[in-house]
Amino acid sequence: MTDLLGNMRRTHNCGELRIGDVGKDIVLMGWVQRRRDHGGVIFVDFRDRAGLTQIVFNPEISQSVHEKAQVIRGEFVLGVKGKVVARPTDMVNKNMDTGEIEVFVDELKILSHAQTPIFQIEDRVEASEIIRLQYRHLDLRRPQLQKNIIARHTAARTVREYLNERGFLDIETPFLTKSTPEGARDYLVPSRVNHGCFYALPQSPQLFKQLLMISGFERYYQIVRCFRDEDLRADRQPEFTQIDMELSFVGEEDIMEITEGLIKEVFKKVRNIDVQIPFERITYQESMERFGIDRPDMRFGLELHDVSDIVKDANFKVFASAVKNGGIVKAINAKGCGGVDGTSGMSRKEIDELTAFAAIYKAKGLAWIKVKENEWQSPIAKFFTESEKAALKERLNMEVGDLIFFVADSVKVTNEALGQLRNELARRLNLIDNNVYRFVWVTHFPLLEYDEAEKRYQALHHPFTAPLEEDMDKLESDPLNIRSRAYDMVLNGTEIGGGSIRIHSTELQERVLNLLGIGKEEAQEKFGFLLNALASGTPPHGGLAFGFDRLVMLLCQEDSIRDVIAFPKTQKATCLLTDAPSVPTMAQLQELSIKVSKLEE
Ligand code: AMO
Ligand code: AMP
Repeated sequence: MTDLLGNMRRTHNCGELRIGDVGKDIVLMGWVQRRRDHGGVIFVDFRDRAGLTQIVFNPEISQSVHEKAQVIRGEFVLGVKGKVVARPTDMVNKNMDTGEIEVFVDELKILSHAQTPIFQIEDRVEASEIIRLQYRHLDLRRPQLQKNIIARHTAARTVREYLNERGFLDIETPFLTKSTPEGARDYLVPSRVNHGCFYALPQSPQLFKQLLMISGFERYYQIVRCFRDEDLRADRQPEFTQIDMELSFVGEEDIMEITEGLIKEVFKKVRNIDVQIPFERITYQESMERFGIDRPDMRFGLELHDVSDIVKDANFKVFASAVKNGGIVKAINAKGCGGVDGTSGMSRKEIDELTAFAAIYKAKGLAWIKVKENEWQSPIAKFFTESEKAALKERLNMEVGDLIFFVADSVKVTNEALGQLRNELARRLNLIDNNVYRFVWVTHFPLLEYDEAEKRYQALHHPFTAPLEEDMDKLESDPLNIRSRAYDMVLNGTEIGGGSIRIHSTELQERVLNLLGIGKEEAQEKFGFLLNALASGTPPHGGLAFGFDRLVMLLCQEDSIRDVIAFPKTQKATCLLTDAPSVPTMAQLQELSIKVSKLEE
């Protein structure tokens, strides 16, 4: 094999040359971003991961090199040796870090030819996401993605340094394991040597990290892949990464303090942003009341107000009957959207769009009132008495120009629909400042929720979360009103992390599993190893896991976690680059004694 490089080695990267380097003989290696021919002189924007430098092939510098350069096209890989020169003043490019200089090439090695790329390697790509994912190796060359992946590295490295300094041990846990109940479906892996048996890929290392506490490691962390077979969204992937932590001999305060410090450090190192700690805290209940949602975006107002008590006897049957049936009526005041100074405010079309939006979250309608100088413009104003109007006016701080939206339904639907509408309104009204980072802890989540479809209780967080001490007496009598020692860290409306103080006695763990409909026998079969371990001397412990992809997405100001993962999957959980998942061979299936009914048809 010929050694293409010979003894040529890069001396600089394509992002670092400045006016002070003029006169130096240097070597650059990288890709041809763009080539332009000007009157016999060839200019190339030359790229590596650090940036761009203009390199010049001029026949007056070297006839032979210029001739050799004729074949160069986009995405060719080159090694060039040359001299740094100052650009003529009128040629200085202020938009380029290296825009004051260029490199006159006197030696050229063409290290690799390239097919014409399917899309131009630039930040503004026209290509669809499908094409981008199919040609991910090209997509990843784009400066924006390079920046994101590098930011991800910096974040991971900062996390490790921060936790290492504080006595955390990085300990690996198995991928081929047993089901870990985090509420999603498991990915299963068939076992060849144990026919008919399957491993489950971990939804999180939850049980193992608790075992590590029982084993006496005291502080554990891992930047670890988790696997969940669930419906995907912009901030969900089937395999995603957690910064997973667990600590012994701690309470909520200790975990919050350490994780706030971690986030502060990551924002400083990755973005040079100073995050204020400690973070604000609100209880789950307060969050639901004010924002209708357990991951509130605190960057804007538009809070929800309960008006059930005011409208419970109103002539508007929709409102009155919602309250009578145990539901609620809540409202949002969109200040100024009702039209000020004679303008008409939000159009009927827009209100209809918002009604359709609320309907996605099962709201049966979206009543509204525009507050005008002398009247309320509204399909429902006629139903209210003067005293009801006065009470609404006061509760909702209604002023001329305001637009009020109401939803009447069950507590769940009302909160969900208005909570989502609140976010949508903020987007439409441009109330969101993308440069603001508002963190909040949401605490005291309910321990359980009732699953209507399955007719049983489910753990809201996971079954190993400890109930709040003062609610312990409700454990069997009033399960839905037990609060837990779980907490979520929320940033700008995204849940970036969640955790809890754990149950640390076998007896309580069995009682909670029992509430979830998991009897003694099933508990032994599924979690026997944990129950046994809990009985062998367990320190009080708790922890938290950050969604690392989500954290990096917000750090990079991206809207999708796919833009911060080198090789992400599509919404349908496929990898367009490799074409996974794919059909195995018959021989593979036979070896596993698996029959696939669809394949046999
Ligand atoms: P939880 O299930 O809340 O807790 O997960 C922790 C964090 O992981 C992120 N996350 C995801 N990110 C991308 N794609 C997904 N499909 C996805 N699912 C979750 C979220 C979430 O806050 N074992 C517990 C943690 C603990 O109790 O210590 C757990 O996994 O940002
Ligand atoms: P209707 O009486 O169906 O014509 O509805 C009058 C107004 O009330 C319309 O603006 C509807 O969108 C609204 N509306 C209907 N049902 C609900 C509901 N459950 N909650 C809030 N508004 C509703």
